Amino acid sequence: MKLIGISGSPSSRSKTRIAVERAVRHAAERYPAVEGEVLGLVDYNLVFCDGRDPSLYEGDTRRVIDKVVEADAVIVGTPIYRATYTGILKNLFDLLPNDALLGKPVGLIATAGSDHHFLAIEHELKPLVGFFQAHALPGAVYAKNEHFDGGELVDRGVIRDLERLAEAVVGFLERQHGPLVGASAPSIERRSLDEGGREAK
Ligand SMILES: Cc1cc2nc3c(=O)[nH]c(=O)nc-3n(C[C@H](O)[C@H](O)[C@H](O)COP(=O)(O)O)c2cc1C
Repeated sequence: MKLIGISGSPSSRSKTRIAVERAVRHAAERYPAVEGEVLGLVDYNLVFCDGRDPSLYEGDTRRVIDKVVEADAVIVGTPIYRATYTGILKNLFDLLPNDALLGKPVGLIATAGSDHHFLAIEHELKPLVGFFQAHALPGAVYAKNEHFDGGELVDRGVIRDLERLAEAVVGFLERQHGPLVGASAPSIERRSLDEGGREAK
């Protein structure tokens, strides 16, 4: 199962990215069947959406679209900019095909300088996920600058919330696809019995 984390920060020293990485790492460590990858949108040369068919984009834009389309689950993080998500994150969602997230579980993370925009998760991010007919899971995380120190996430409560969010995403995947704990069981050839209950040749 492929879990993609998306950090929608345009900053190269991003708190959002730290939070998204924490959640994705927790999922991959706890559930060996989960393959985690984090995309920092700042690292990709995404063109602006110009309305063309999504299949016609090339280069980094194509690569990022494909990674999201191929993912089974997504954790999306964004800094709050002007009371909502960032422009580069919106651009990614504009670039995606309409069915890119159909039926997939999505965990949401926002980072911010203040308490003021906590409800942006409900009023801005969830409708965006809703457009794609994905499942925004309960337990979205809102982390503030004071929860980070020296380039690290230090708040135990936020760390626990991120781990719970990761578990909620994997739990949803398990309800869709079956248990993800441990390596998948090898297929074992079964002997068949004849009508007398003896092993068939
Ligand atoms: C252009 C800009 C706009 C911002 N707007 C808000 C805002 O409306 N509300 C808020 O609480 N914080 C706001 N912030 C603070 C960021 O959300 C906060 O510093 C966040 O942790 C940055 O995340 P990053 O390190 O991943 O880029 C803004 C920061 C910038 C640079």
